[in-house]
Amino acid sequence: VAQEKINTDIVTLTRFLTEEQAKHPEATGDFTLLCHALQFSFKSIAYYIRRATLINLTGLAGSSNTTGDDQKKLDVIGNDLFVAAMRTSGKCRLLVSEEEEECIVFNENPTARYAVVCDPIDGSSNLDAGVSVGTIFGIFRLPEGAKGEKEEILLPGTELVSSGFTMYGASTQLVLTMKSGGVNGFTMDNALGEFILTHPNMQIPKSRAIYSVNEGNSLYWDEPVKEYFNTLKYPVGKSGKPYSARYIGSMVADAYRTLLYGGIFAYPSDKKSPKGKLRILYECAPMAMVFENAGGQAVNSRMERMLSVVPEHIHDRSGIFMGSQNEVQNVIEVHKKHR
Ligand code: AHG
Ligand code: MN
Ligand code: MN
Ligand code: MN
Repeated sequence: VAQEKINTDIVTLTRFLTEEQAKHPEATGDFTLLCHALQFSFKSIAYYIRRATLINLTGLAGSSNTTGDDQKKLDVIGNDLFVAAMRTSGKCRLLVSEEEEECIVFNENPTARYAVVCDPIDGSSNLDAGVSVGTIFGIFRLPEGAKGEKEEILLPGTELVSSGFTMYGASTQLVLTMKSGGVNGFTMDNALGEFILTHPNMQIPKSRAIYSVNEGNSLYWDEPVKEYFNTLKYPVGKSGKPYSARYIGSMVADAYRTLLYGGIFAYPSDKKSPKGKLRILYECAPMAMVFENAGGQAVNSRMERMLSVVPEHIHDRSGIFMGSQNEVQNVIEVHKKHR
């Protein structure tokens, strides 16, 4: 039997972060330490999700969060794991989580310069069915002279220094991007307990005939949205072939597929949810940064650049269209016609 070719020069997330830091002589190492704490929260959340059915962690916690979602037991545990990781990193000053009503101020870390936003478990309605869920995160660097006040985290996505998400699926995936550009994908090796760089420099295909949207809301959609999706389903002209529909109902999983295969993911604002469903700070903005840095686009329901939107409140929502450059451009063109 031929011997398996063993790679002895593996790029782990730890190594990747060390090498990134070395590229920036001015770096203090704080960002790297913060990322190590993030990494631990991903590993532990993945661990409890895998064991949930065995240790009675399925089902509801019996509470609801500020945005009105019923909290699952794992929403609460995922949040607690994330908050503890950020507190003990020593590098996080402010933290906004979907599951926390208020922005958390870590006064025990008065010199910490980072503000973090997170959706500890995205797609939690899918948890008990064993469908992929994930964690979304964004990291801001507070400006010099910031006082560590709650309002200081109300920043547009253009101010993110890093963002990304994990997907706890058949394997645990981590997608990470930084201000300097580039989107990198890592896969968790459970035996090593390490994220391994498996998808360096991810680029989203320019177009692909796949759309991802909760079509059950189409009754409530605005005219341009209805028209856009109809052009995908009932094409006229030369191509003639309708798009494929794929909707998992976990943004992380729909986003991960869209990043790899191309296409479009949308959660438009509509008559039922005039402000949209997904939340700007910890869902829309981090994802928009990933998609732009991978060569795609992300806009809100007003066809404005998603990253330029400044939230007024930490849990503010927005409509979103994100994906391949050309697919999102088609959405923008249809909306222009209706002006
Ligand atoms: P969360 O589980 O963090 O509250 O997010 C839910 C979001 C997102 O994961 C998904 O894209 C969307 O809700 C699905 O909503 P619908 O069930 O309305 O399609
Ligand atoms: Mn929720
Ligand atoms: Mn979510
Ligand atoms: Mn969530």
